[in-house]
Amino acid sequence: CGIVGYVGARSAQDVVIEGLRRMEYRGYDSAGIALVADGTLAVDKRAGKLANLEKAIDESPLPASTIGIGHTRWATHGAPTDVNAHPHLGSHRRLAVVHNGIIENFAALRDRIEDEGITVVSETDTEIAAHLLELQLESGEDLTTAMQRVCSRLEGAFTLVAVDAQDPDRVVAARRNSPLVVGLGEGENFLGSDVAAFIEHTREALELGQDQVVTITREGVEVTGFDGSPAEGTQYHVDWDLSAAEKDGHDWFMRKEIFEQPRAVADSLLGRMGADGLLQLDEVRLSDDELRDIDKIIIIACGTSFYAGMVAKYAIEHWCRIPVEVELASEFRYRDPILNYSTLVVAISQSGETADTLQAIRHARVQKSKVLAICNTNGSTIPRESDAVIYTHAGPEIGVASTKGFLTQLVACYLLALYLAQVKGTRYGDEINQIVRQLEAMPAHIQDVLDRADEVYALAREYVDATSVLFLGRHAGYPVALEGALKLKELAYLHAEGFAAGELKHGPIALVDEGLPVLCVVPSRGRDQLHDKMVSGIQEVRARGARTLCLAEVGDTAIEPYADVLFRLPKVPTLLQPLVATVPLQLFACELATAKGHDVDQPRNLAKSVTVE
Ligand code: G6P
Repeated sequence: CGIVGYVGARSAQDVVIEGLRRMEYRGYDSAGIALVADGTLAVDKRAGKLANLEKAIDESPLPASTIGIGHTRWATHGAPTDVNAHPHLGSHRRLAVVHNGIIENFAALRDRIEDEGITVVSETDTEIAAHLLELQLESGEDLTTAMQRVCSRLEGAFTLVAVDAQDPDRVVAARRNSPLVVGLGEGENFLGSDVAAFIEHTREALELGQDQVVTITREGVEVTGFDGSPAEGTQYHVDWDLSAAEKDGHDWFMRKEIFEQPRAVADSLLGRMGADGLLQLDEVRLSDDELRDIDKIIIIACGTSFYAGMVAKYAIEHWCRIPVEVELASEFRYRDPILNYSTLVVAISQSGETADTLQAIRHARVQKSKVLAICNTNGSTIPRESDAVIYTHAGPEIGVASTKGFLTQLVACYLLALYLAQVKGTRYGDEINQIVRQLEAMPAHIQDVLDRADEVYALAREYVDATSVLFLGRHAGYPVALEGALKLKELAYLHAEGFAAGELKHGPIALVDEGLPVLCVVPSRGRDQLHDKMVSGIQEVRARGARTLCLAEVGDTAIEPYADVLFRLPKVPTLLQPLVATVPLQLFACELATAKGHDVDQPRNLAKSVTVE
């Protein structure tokens, strides 16, 4: 969910709505706003996208106010209806609160509230927090104290932001295991789920710790623990500019982000090679001795980031000879994984806030494993709670479906693998240098693919009415196939499945029918038989009526007789091929979804950053 809070001199409605617009990628099932005006709360909230709320406010304007809160929701408890939308109010309409996360003990708290004679109107856990806060206010406490008291009783993960109708000077917020940052202004202050909420007003931000309450007024900011003890946030400067959050002439943020990939990959490689010819990963705060002691790596991630982890396994095992497991973060904790001090857990998360991944690294740290995060968001929770971090430099990713986030994660994974090889001495320096040079050539190769986007678009438009698409790959091309299929599911709401081509004959081939489009990621022609095996697989599906859409490197003539459509990839080693082979699949999904009339940046039912388990 996206959260905004404001107190200052401007129109709170304008600041909150604008902030919500920038937060909408976090969830868009419903949106709402609460302002404090003349000792009362003015509230509007609507199911559906933010536009519905804006229309409602246009038709029936809210009173002028300079203090307010807002919310854009990704539903957890309760369906996305007007009633369940945030803000939620206490029964005396004195207190309004917005919330992100899940209050786990809400059922027990609800019983206690009903015992007090209060009728609970929505199905949300948030309403419970609203009643609890209002009860504290009615007992004579100020909003800050009320928040501290209530948060001490809540279990689970939450960000809460509240206003009191009788206190036009303060907005109070709290966080536990859920994101919240403060924007520091002159005579005004802001709250947001991330800095995008207020970046057009201020670049100075304050990061909050775990279990903290923050009170913002026009004059200042005060941070405490849930027990009321004084605390301090960490101030930092945000160096993203606003234009990074604009579409730059593209129809979708996603398309813009696909086209930004040459730059994002180049930026993520920048400054990694030292003058001494050695790879440097300064942010990796683990000593060479600690790295040499690692005898097993477990990579944990969700969604697209998980597929980056699968590619990392091929690279790390090949270059470093360290066994690697790749695991979905949501499964990791619950299978009692075998971890110890010599296990390195690598958490890959574009946002740095994904709840499943966060809980998984916490579990790993309790088991004494070292945790290294690969993350695109400075100051987010996952890198903060990790022993080490490699930041990717993709810039803000707004489109819900990850694109440049994925490619830069791949770069970080390759760099990590090469760095481990360097430290462990499993590869010679010359070889490492040569691979780094191949990586440095990637932005130009990606650009070459992008320059031929029209070829992919034309193909995508042919499949607007397709009901199913299969993706085949082998080796590092297997995760690419999975990612290609995921993109189609996410954006085009189309049945799409990725398979390891070798598995075809063990089941999936039964799906092949006359005219079924099968997208094939053909490995580079190396010394091994990978390429030829893939070509055989393609022959097999084609013989059964499939239409084969092949991605194969320049000069690969062996594929020609079996490809109904051939898109040429630049010639790069198979291990690095995901950096170029993923791009046409992103373009394909983006264009197909556009042709179907879907909202590519905000696909139904999804959220950019899933901060609940
Ligand atoms: C959500 C997004 C996906 C993303 C996944 C993991 O499901 O819709 O695009 O891959 O979360 O996100 P993370 O920020 O942890 O990489």
